[in-house]
Amino acid sequence: MRIDILTIHPHLLDGPFSHSILQRAQDKGHVEIHLHDIRDYSDDKHKKVDDYAFGGSAGMVMTIQPIATLIDKLKSDRDYDEIIYMTPDGEQMNQGISNALSLKTNIIFLCGHYKGVDQRIRDHYITREISIGDYVLSGGELAAAVVVDSIIRLIPGVLGDESSALSDSFQDGLLAPPVYTRPSNYNGWEVPPILLSGNFPEIEKWMHEQAMERTKARRPDLFNDKSD
Ligand code: 6GU
Repeated sequence: MRIDILTIHPHLLDGPFSHSILQRAQDKGHVEIHLHDIRDYSDDKHKKVDDYAFGGSAGMVMTIQPIATLIDKLKSDRDYDEIIYMTPDGEQMNQGISNALSLKTNIIFLCGHYKGVDQRIRDHYITREISIGDYVLSGGELAAAVVVDSIIRLIPGVLGDESSALSDSFQDGLLAPPVYTRPSNYNGWEVPPILLSGNFPEIEKWMHEQAMERTKARRPDLFNDKSD
């Protein structure tokens, strides 16, 4: 998979992709992540990337030219499956979207700033718009990092233990059950005895019950939510 991220603050994303699972996924060749500074593509002599909104509303709008030039260049080199605009008014992110995107080959993420991008970029280039929740961030970069992380860990071979992505919260529509490790007794805090019993069918049943209980208590909405 190849991921291209278009931003006016590429250094904001240096950190998230250079550690742990995401770094290893790149080292092993499962994914290439390319960061592009939109400002580098501005034809303006001061490298401007924004301007006042028509109609007089407050705040700056990202201009068409640098973004269009950059996307045209990328599209001339390869076909893209999705060109995603990260925006608080997009479709709300969920595990179903992660699963679908993890099967793609080439994806562009455009990170918005200020009051967003000129609507004509959205009309003519963007294939999908994603928000990570009902709160406002200063820009789309951290949201893109969240979405990219959730996609990459689903690519086969990225996680050491293949079964661990499947047992994530949400993957079966339920929250994950509680987990425990050694010691089995920490100053009187005991691990549930069933987990030490070696009776795997019973352990599996217990885990499913715990997942159901947790989901009922914390996220009853998930029981009716078949969206993906
Ligand atoms: Cl994708 N962008 C911004 N700026 N704020 C957000 C968001 C995205 N998703 C939730 N809040």
